[in-house]
Amino acid sequence: MYYSEYLNLKTDLERGYKTYENYERSLQKLINKIIVDVQQKNIEGDSKKAIEIINNVKNIKVPSGIQKRFDNILLNESEIAERKIVLKSKVRRLYCAVTSFCNIKCIMCDIEKHKWELPERAIEEIIGLMPYLENVMWQGGEVFFYKHFEKLMDSANLNKVNQEIVTNGLLLNEKNINKLVDYNVDLGISIDGLTKDVYEYIRAGANFDKLIENMALLRKIKSQNTKKKSHLRLNVLVMKKNIDQIEFFPEFAIEYGFTRLCVNPFGPDFISQENIFHYNKNDEFKFKIIDIKEKLSEKCKKMNIELVDSLPNYEIANDLPPKHENITKEDIKNEVQNVAKNLLLCHAPWRKLFIDSNGTIVPECLCNREHPIGNISTDKIDEIWNNKNMQIYRKKIIDNSPQEICKSDCVEGRIPEKVLKDVINTNLFWWEF
Ligand SMILES: C[S@@+](CC[C@H](N)C(=O)[O-])C[C@H]1O[C@@H](n2cnc3c(N)ncnc32)[C@H](O)[C@@H]1O
Repeated sequence: MYYSEYLNLKTDLERGYKTYENYERSLQKLINKIIVDVQQKNIEGDSKKAIEIINNVKNIKVPSGIQKRFDNILLNESEIAERKIVLKSKVRRLYCAVTSFCNIKCIMCDIEKHKWELPERAIEEIIGLMPYLENVMWQGGEVFFYKHFEKLMDSANLNKVNQEIVTNGLLLNEKNINKLVDYNVDLGISIDGLTKDVYEYIRAGANFDKLIENMALLRKIKSQNTKKKSHLRLNVLVMKKNIDQIEFFPEFAIEYGFTRLCVNPFGPDFISQENIFHYNKNDEFKFKIIDIKEKLSEKCKKMNIELVDSLPNYEIANDLPPKHENITKEDIKNEVQNVAKNLLLCHAPWRKLFIDSNGTIVPECLCNREHPIGNISTDKIDEIWNNKNMQIYRKKIIDNSPQEICKSDCVEGRIPEKVLKDVINTNLFWWEF
């Protein structure tokens, strides 16, 4: 198995069949393969096989900079396999809002009302976690508005953590772009209009010309650093004002070097005439959405852009509700099979923490805010990780009664397994040794 593959690599190095550089590259591939395989076994519910792989690879010596992370992954996967409720492993993926303050005032967002910032005490706790974290997603408000943000980014980079940022892109400049590219940070930029009037109407206080200037600068700096691995993602929120522009976002994405296009519906929590998915619904919009989905899918395929289309699948002819709201016989059959195989509905409470823009903590962004596990302003991350509330999440999922704590979207099969099980993205393991 994997351990003998590792020994062969070492022998090749010792006998001079491989240069040190080649050895490291092969070792990196091997480590990635192991991590993906162990996780896959747990996703499939094959705990026995997961444990077998973990036992086989636990003596592999990886470069010192990632040893703690590798050991933590193996420990965490063994704890998932053994259905542990109190974990010795540490959190692996952190979603962290750093501030609720923002430089603009978008018409669909009221986050700023929280008037909240990540407390300084928590910064040290997060920095202490860095050697174990695989991925951290920073968000706001606007991250570049938070005065300690650079310190957090520097620490993540020092510890080779995969970083993602969601930003409006307006506070980018030559200095911070160079750093982001150098640190291989994945950037998600939220742009909801392709013309000055639509963009500035939605993103009140923003300047479209400045955005375009920043996008051009980002493209230029990225093109000078082609070996770096930062990815650009374009986030678009669909609403009444921009609905006629959505089909043209693939062209914009190509022009500025975005490799992924994420198209999202207006969320249910914000009541507005612009919210055509929840409050201002009508057939005209539904027809447009059906048409947009088709066009985006075709264009993105042609242009080789990864499309993450989260818009609902409307069926107008029979006036049916969106497809994803129907629970089919197939869903029920899958659910029964999952219970029989003793599969966990979701792995988030074993892997993740989500710090919201008012300090509330839940395991995952999708989790029910009525069941928080703590608050970063009052609680320590280490304590939250195994506190009573977190144990309840894990126990209810193990006992197959997640409906008592989780959102119905997750329990009733409307959220893809890929999201619930956090299917591993090998981009997370990019580290240069
Ligand atoms: C709250 S913003 C904060 C990060 C950053 N300032 C930005 O603009 O991307 C994060 C994401 O949430 C999305 N968002 C804001 N209000 C929303 C709503 N009512 N429903 C769904 N998504 C929303 C934004 O479009 C953005 O992509």
